[in-house]
Amino acid sequence: MGDLGLTDERDDAWSGRRVLLTGAAGLLGRAVTAELVAHGSTVLGLDIDWPTDDPDAETGLVRVPGDVRDREAVDRILREEAVDSVIHLAAQTLVGPALREPADTFSHNIQGTWTILEACRAQRRVARIVVASSDKAYGDASGRPYVETMALRPRHPYDTSKAAADLLAQTYAQAYGSPVAVTRCANLYGGGDLNWSRIVPGTIRSIVLGERPVIRSDGTFLRDYLFVRDAAIGTIALADQVGRRPDLHGQPFNFAAGQRLTVLEMVDRIVDLMGSPLTPRILAEPLHEIQVQRVSAARARRELGWRPRSTLASGLRQTIAWYRTYLAASPP
Ligand SMILES: NC(=O)c1ccc[n+]([C@@H]2O[C@H](COP(=O)([O-])OP(=O)(O)OC[C@H]3O[C@@H](n4cnc5c(N)ncnc54)[C@H](O)[C@@H]3O)[C@@H](O)[C@H]2O)c1
Repeated sequence: MGDLGLTDERDDAWSGRRVLLTGAAGLLGRAVTAELVAHGSTVLGLDIDWPTDDPDAETGLVRVPGDVRDREAVDRILREEAVDSVIHLAAQTLVGPALREPADTFSHNIQGTWTILEACRAQRRVARIVVASSDKAYGDASGRPYVETMALRPRHPYDTSKAAADLLAQTYAQAYGSPVAVTRCANLYGGGDLNWSRIVPGTIRSIVLGERPVIRSDGTFLRDYLFVRDAAIGTIALADQVGRRPDLHGQPFNFAAGQRLTVLEMVDRIVDLMGSPLTPRILAEPLHEIQVQRVSAARARRELGWRPRSTLASGLRQTIAWYRTYLAASPP
């Protein structure tokens, strides 16, 4: 298996490709960019919120500031940049703001997705499309591991927005033959995530600042965690394969690494790896979140040949190292 999770003879498949990557400034977008650029693609990164200072700015990346809901802008990029591949990650991803302002999240996540799918339908040159859904689209499965054949039963606004985007992608594949597949990733962690309200970056930053990490919930929510580079490789492998295999059109794939921990266990693991004596402050606020999420990636392993490469310890070590460097260069 080559670097991108493709068979070795296809590992240069991305060389010379022109990729529209939405949400390129985000956690997963940065990791996907790094892999694609390293493999010779040109990445047109569309994002509504590019940071002004960026320690990891990629040289093969063309930053396009803009809104994925802007159909004219998306059409223009596809046409003028001769895009052949689209990876749609842009979304309002924070659960709290989604609960407070659901219409805004629905607009970014659902309208954004249909705008991309419509623009690709009109531009027949695009040969492969991946839309990021989420494990949260499944809703509460009473602790059973999510598998792709389960119905989507979301109950909270963010989760519903992802399920809607997921169904839109499936619909475009069925109704219009769009070459689109769907990722449903577990909880991602890795360097480059500047959403400090998320547990991994928030905990690392608190420890670097010498403050006790804060857990807003009671710490018992169980999540399946996935290192962001493994998610990026899965996303890229799926995009490659959906361009060659019509049987994958409209198909969803879970990506997870079996790294299952409660929030409290995750915080304890980070505290240990950072050699800190600090203990977390548990606020036990009532949060509208699914209690237990387990994700089976058996299908991605079987049908795409995808495998996670990072263990929890190695993924967290790389993540901590990234934040130590970032926070030393840009102290909060
Ligand atoms: N982080 C996770 O744990 C996780 C898990 C499963 C699925 N996902 C999905 O993967 C994708 C990427 O997640 P992430 O963690 O990198 O999120 P992120 O919040 O770090 O990045 C999302 C990016 O999208 C941009 N964006 C939002 N609305 C936009 C719009 N209208 N137009 C252009 N850009 C817009 C944001 O500015 C941001 O840079 C999302 O679709 C998310 O739902 C994430």
